[in-house]
Amino acid sequence: MKANDLRKMYLEFFKGKGHAIIASASLLPENDPTVLFTSAGMHPLVPFLLGEPHPEGTRLVNFQKCIRTTDIDEVGDNTHNTFFEMLGNWSLNDYWKKEAITWSYEFLTSKKYLGFDPDKLSVTVFAGDEDAPRDTESAEIWKSIGVPVERIYYLPKKDNWWGPAGTTGPCGPDTEMFIEVDNVPKCGPECRPGCECGHYVEVWNDVFMYYDKKEDGTYVEMDRRNIDTGMGVERTIAMMNGVSTAYDTDIFLPYINRIKEMSGIDEPTPEQTRQIRIISDHVKSAVMIMADDRKIGPSNVEAGYIVRRLIRKAIHSADILGIGQGFMKDLADITIEMYKDVYDEVERNKEFVYQNLEDEEKKFRKTLRKALVKLNKILADTNTITGENAFLLFTSFGLPVEMTREIAVENGIAVDMEDFKKQFDHHREISRTATQGKFKGGLADHSDEITNLHTATHLLQAALRKVLGDEVTQTGSNITKERLRFDFTFDRKLTPDEIAEVENLVNGVIQKDIEVTREFMPYDDAIAIGAMAFFKENYGETVSVYSVGDFSMELCGGPHVERTGLLGKFKIGKQKKIGAGVMRIRAVLE
Ligand code: ALA
Repeated sequence: MKANDLRKMYLEFFKGKGHAIIASASLLPENDPTVLFTSAGMHPLVPFLLGEPHPEGTRLVNFQKCIRTTDIDEVGDNTHNTFFEMLGNWSLNDYWKKEAITWSYEFLTSKKYLGFDPDKLSVTVFAGDEDAPRDTESAEIWKSIGVPVERIYYLPKKDNWWGPAGTTGPCGPDTEMFIEVDNVPKCGPECRPGCECGHYVEVWNDVFMYYDKKEDGTYVEMDRRNIDTGMGVERTIAMMNGVSTAYDTDIFLPYINRIKEMSGIDEPTPEQTRQIRIISDHVKSAVMIMADDRKIGPSNVEAGYIVRRLIRKAIHSADILGIGQGFMKDLADITIEMYKDVYDEVERNKEFVYQNLEDEEKKFRKTLRKALVKLNKILADTNTITGENAFLLFTSFGLPVEMTREIAVENGIAVDMEDFKKQFDHHREISRTATQGKFKGGLADHSDEITNLHTATHLLQAALRKVLGDEVTQTGSNITKERLRFDFTFDRKLTPDEIAEVENLVNGVIQKDIEVTREFMPYDDAIAIGAMAFFKENYGETVSVYSVGDFSMELCGGPHVERTGLLGKFKIGKQKKIGAGVMRIRAVLE
């Protein structure tokens, strides 16, 4: 099956169920300054999920082009790509769980459509927590259409809840569909949907979007019942063709074959395969972004900076494989050929794409030559790249940081990342005002009591991880003027000794009166330097990171106190088990 057959089949199927086919929206969101790219099919539909009437009615279907760059450094393995397409059907307060689930089952298993063996299908449903009830209704529907009870799994919010797309907005529990693949064996007796080993592949997600997440972190039930579903084209195509990666299907093979020709590499080693995939993915993404009608070319800011990074990384990979200058034009043509009948703008904007690819390669090669001369000079004196020098290569020679690191590693050279981070942080602080408008805000109530408890929540989380281990992860948080409430993954109450240890750690930080600092940076950089982030898909491209010395570093919209000395004495109150493997702690500041 080819991608085009899948897109057509999906649209036709849902058209037959009364859905209007709508066009894919731009990759660059129009009215949402909090994110750089459209990252899910529902993203452009947020206003309609919240109640605005859609001109095409209450049942919609489409395929949507998307970009996700949070895992950009993973590209090259079997499963990651930055550009992808999502098939989706929506009910805007129209049909509900029974129809959504029944149609998903029909499309997945009927021989007329995808025809997966029903015996290979497993599903997950939401286990329930303090925000929303256990989804026994969906489980019953799955059972009634023939999925045996032992293949229906109840999982918590971190697995079976989707959204919102930014920090606030429509979201809800979901039911996810997994197909077991024969070419990857189960990793053990505990292997089940959600396991990372690859035996269970998620093919579809039906979200029951009837909550609106507010700025204070609470989930308010809407008086609407929306359905949002998402099926990834890349993954489904791989499954339909019995291969374990989209790189072995019609959406990547033309690139891979052409790169093999250009490099003269017939039988690539695993590392060469990785480089070939990086080039394929990155050029495709850069072309698709530039071919959007918004005409974003490479630059040093926002979406343009992502385009620059994608192109420069592709050039670097091409150099490693010994491919000469000008290789991107051919790969752009492959992209245009592949997508021009699906997204008209790709053909329309091709001259803009060619021109930018050519200009950016020239610029980068000039930069690279100068940067390498500089790098060699640095290396003549020492075998470590200081933070200052790495920073200079970035600001004065336009060498993306990740490339300096990569080139350094390839040559067995160390980079003083600690020092580099300091320089970079300083730079970020300076550019703070420029990026400040990029995300939605954090706490709705900015009173002193709430702000103090908010900072205390960060300290508590860091302390819990130090005392109980890194498996502790926040699943929820709620703050009133009187107390904080913190939910986290852990399977038992803390002992009195552990409570004392956590309290002492937090109070120690309070007594030291440490400065609380805020920085703005790309999500990828925040993760790379170890910031804690939860509900990964909730963040935009540029994020706000709060640090308390080296004790805590977390992605957060704030606000927080300026110094920990303002907090008073921290005391843990009640503890409660609120679900399988989830604990709740209350605490106060006295
Ligand atoms: N919005 C849901 C997802 O992206 C369907 O998985």
